[in-house]
Amino acid sequence: MKVIISSDKTSGSKKGFAIFKNSIANGSKVIGLATGSTPVTLYQEWTESNLDNSNLISINLDEYVGLTPDNDQSYHYFMQKNLFAKKPFKHSYIPDGIKAIKDPEGTAADYNKIIAENPIDIQLLGLGQNGHIAFNEPGTPFDSVTHEVQLTENTIKANSRFFNNIDEVPKSAICMGIANIMSAKEIVIMAFGDNKAEAVQKMVEGPVTEEVPASILQKHENVTLIVDQAAASKLS
Ligand code: F6R
Repeated sequence: MKVIISSDKTSGSKKGFAIFKNSIANGSKVIGLATGSTPVTLYQEWTESNLDNSNLISINLDEYVGLTPDNDQSYHYFMQKNLFAKKPFKHSYIPDGIKAIKDPEGTAADYNKIIAENPIDIQLLGLGQNGHIAFNEPGTPFDSVTHEVQLTENTIKANSRFFNNIDEVPKSAICMGIANIMSAKEIVIMAFGDNKAEAVQKMVEGPVTEEVPASILQKHENVTLIVDQAAASKLS
């Protein structure tokens, strides 16, 4: 794993975007994208750039079950707001959170087919404080493919602040599995802030274990980790 330590999130995000730009210039066509707070600055760089996405395909990691694309808590909405509205792709895939209400298995199977038909050239990831990647929490099998993930009570409670009442909060998500993520030819994972330092240390220097999902990235031959000083602070 190549590790780049940047002074702060802004410079790290610029370096992250430069990797994507270069990869696209060298022929990458299928781009794996993430949500969360980590990639927002990179997406800002992207929207302000002269990069043309109109020949590219994007594939997102995950979506909540039950949220329509116009729900401002959905990942469809997030991607539209942060990237797609200004830089539309030829086609953008995000799991169908509405079809998944009645048919989570069919929705996951559809998504696995999409990934098989559009092998990901370069995948962007954020890192959870417990080492999760996408919604793949500790204990998720390394050979998992797209599946429905039940959200923990804690996550549901934490998310309830964004909704009118707790019953509206999604209880599950459709999420790429770890095997799908590992199938990407190249991976860029970013982590900023001292609350990520422990997960970064375990991911880079700890044993490869399903208890730290991101540790599997040690086995991938083309991964770049971009961190700021704070997130790098526990690396030896
Ligand atoms: C986002 C995702 C999550 C986040 C992770 C870090 O699509 O799948 O795994 O990357 O939870 O979240 P932030 O970036 O908000 O710290």
